[in-house]
Amino acid sequence: MEKIVILTGAGISAESGLGTFRDEGGLWAQHRIEDVATPEGFARNPALVHNFYNVRRVQAAKAQPNAAHQALARLQRDWPDEVIVVTQNVDGLHEAGGSQDVIHMHGTLAGALCSSCSHRWKSAEQMTPADPCSRCGRPTVRPDVVWFGEMPYFMDEIYDHLSGARIFAAIGTSGQVYPAAAFVHEAIAAGAKTFELNLEPSTGVLHFDNILTGPATQTVPKWVDDLLKRR
Ligand code: OAD
Repeated sequence: MEKIVILTGAGISAESGLGTFRDEGGLWAQHRIEDVATPEGFARNPALVHNFYNVRRVQAAKAQPNAAHQALARLQRDWPDEVIVVTQNVDGLHEAGGSQDVIHMHGTLAGALCSSCSHRWKSAEQMTPADPCSRCGRPTVRPDVVWFGEMPYFMDEIYDHLSGARIFAAIGTSGQVYPAAAFVHEAIAAGAKTFELNLEPSTGVLHFDNILTGPATQTVPKWVDDLLKRR
């Protein structure tokens, strides 16, 4: 039996029309991380931060899953052992493509979180600093996404999965953000075969045994076909 753990990043949703962060003209070329993706930025200007995520929430709601999301759902369905999808993405395209039990380590645009009482619920499409928490009523509502300086979600669960992985793949991620960028090392320590599937080799490419270069809608379905053929 061979458990597969897959880490995905913004590159898997690029061909669904959602911008990546660090490619030319990407989100971090248009917005300062300090302003829109840190707790300090939110404290300084919550309306600016809500607007940034409101726009992204609308874009994500309009986007359709692509052949790469769908291929991972097929792998989950047809592979005889567990296939765990861990994503850094805050869109819902893995689920829309048919994947189950996706681990959203950086949170989700679909969620609202109260900074006062930690209550979570489904966010409105447009959030504002005046929105009251649906439990405590305080106007301290934020998008349920993980910002720089905060601990990603589900880390114990993810390390547990990595320690049992026989195959690990990183798909559409630049490998520049930790702890996700170090998952490959956990997988290697567990004895997993490692694959990088990316438009171009990432900065961490040397750590991977197998490198598949090209758009995710081409490389991911082919990688899944090859895995399922040899099972
Ligand atoms: P990046 O924007 O850093 O990297 C996206 C990667 O996808 C790049 O290596 C691209 O070469 C690749 N790529 C682009 N188009 C592709 C395609 N069609 N097929 C395959 N690969 C493609 O995005 P992430 O690595 O996801 O965190 O960024 C990680 C984290 O940094 C994000 O979750 C976010 C960001 O700051 C937070 O906001 C906390």
